[in-house]
Amino acid sequence: MKLDHLIEKIQQLSGNYYAEDRLQILQKKIENFLRKNNLSIDEIFLNEERTSLFIDNVLVNKTSFFRHYQQLEEFRELYLKPLVDKKEFRILSAGCSTGKEVYTLAMMAMETGSLPERKLFEGMDLSRFALSVARKGIYSRRTLDQIPKEYRKYISIDGEYLYISEKIKKLTEFTRGNILDSKAFPENHYDVIFCRNVFIYFNPEYINYVLYNFRKALKKDGVLVVSPVEFLSPEDHKLFRPEKIKQYTFYRRVG
Ligand SMILES: C[S@@+](CC[C@H](N)C(=O)[O-])C[C@H]1O[C@@H](n2cnc3c(N)ncnc32)[C@H](O)[C@@H]1O
Repeated sequence: MKLDHLIEKIQQLSGNYYAEDRLQILQKKIENFLRKNNLSIDEIFLNEERTSLFIDNVLVNKTSFFRHYQQLEEFRELYLKPLVDKKEFRILSAGCSTGKEVYTLAMMAMETGSLPERKLFEGMDLSRFALSVARKGIYSRRTLDQIPKEYRKYISIDGEYLYISEKIKKLTEFTRGNILDSKAFPENHYDVIFCRNVFIYFNPEYINYVLYNFRKALKKDGVLVVSPVEFLSPEDHKLFRPEKIKQYTFYRRVG
């Protein structure tokens, strides 16, 4: 199998796309994977476990606590506060990586009002490795700097590690799912879907499939949050209407 076939296969399985400028990084990742597992390119897709291990290796898992903090603050004021007051809501982080976005949202909600002890925050990702980290809720002590002082009561530090408190973990759950797969989503289920820093790695042609899935999975008037540097195209506004009340654009489900 040649590199371009491999790229096509990655795209089919995950929607992720490798433009010219990222090809070298991909090539390095593939070489490392083959060397570490003592495999040839043609052996990668021979069984499901190896395929998923390979996909794990080529996906970009970069994340942090309180990423795009200003956008989160605005989200909290405009959308999260009314949900917390209502007490009955469900928020999904689609492409949650190692869980930091999910724990950030749970901490922000906890700081906003009292919450029922239920799984209100869900993380979904294709990467088994990222999910295993997310479920543990244990990170390097070095990530402490990402957490504003007022939120540090929700974590503890022991030696080199940072632990998410049980109170926060109880509000969360993590599931493996492919955002391209319509079967991964229940209907009319979420009030908000976060999908930040995922579409930047996607083939634009695949984004539309994902938006259909999100539209189905959101409740009427549900909100989609992408990162401040990602925007839906005008054709996609039939599914999600841009809503800019203050500084940031959020997207409201149409219909
Ligand atoms: C760069 S991280 C972003 C994490 C987090 N949303 C944030 O903004 O910090 C992108 C995540 O999307 C996940 N991902 C990529 N393609 C996916 C797919 N088709 N289905 C589910 N998750 C996917 C990757 O495994 C990775 O963990």
